[in-house]
Amino acid sequence: MSSGKEIIVMPSILSARMGFLAADCRRAMAAGAAGLHVDIMDGRFVPNLTMGPDILRAIREDLPEADLHVHLMVMRPDLYAPRFMEAGADTVLIHVEAEGDLRGTLEGIRAAGRRAGLTLCPETPVSALDGYEDVLDEVLVMTVHPGFGGQAFMESGLAKIEAIARRLPTVDIAVDGGITTETGARCAAAGANVLLAGSFLFKAADMRDTLADMRWKAQAAWKGNGMEGK
Ligand code: DX5
Ligand code: ZN
Repeated sequence: MSSGKEIIVMPSILSARMGFLAADCRRAMAAGAAGLHVDIMDGRFVPNLTMGPDILRAIREDLPEADLHVHLMVMRPDLYAPRFMEAGADTVLIHVEAEGDLRGTLEGIRAAGRRAGLTLCPETPVSALDGYEDVLDEVLVMTVHPGFGGQAFMESGLAKIEAIARRLPTVDIAVDGGITTETGARCAAAGANVLLAGSFLFKAADMRDTLADMRWKAQAAWKGNGMEGK
């Protein structure tokens, strides 16, 4: 993923069928996905558990060209970011609410040639990004409480996206949770350019058509497309 700021749509494989994970990852890439969003949960930062680095490595081996966008919902990203990079992550997003040396972790992700991002939970204000501006390739705004797929979009994310877009105009702004064609376009209108969607894409009758429609409508609505007000 480049930071030339373009609209990117990625399926979140939290909504894939875990017994057919390889098939569903291939299906998502064949549907035109820019990459795969991979949710890592440790049962401490959020009350759910997902996958470890070996699963990511298996996805990487099966899909060498896929952009792997790893969202670490873990209490100690300083301990786990290196392991997921070693397993093949291209982007590593950590939570600003997590423990440990967050700045050092973000610097380490960049030093390894990967993209680094900070994630904000719904209750966390944009001011939590203070002091990290120079080590961010991406900011992820959660529009649900992290931990589970299939929750309803929280409107409160829109004002945060607008504030981040004003403050960090060159940084990619991602949105995660309850994203559909409709909520994705609203987030794009607020300034988000990376749309992450789990249940909406994996439940779609035709993932390719739905993904293309999401991208097209977000592109038309997007603040960063230079067309606003025209
Ligand atoms: C939630 C995860 C999301 C999740 C989104 O904690 O971070 O990536 O897959 O699922 P949907 O799109 O179904 O809300
Ligand atoms: Zn996620």
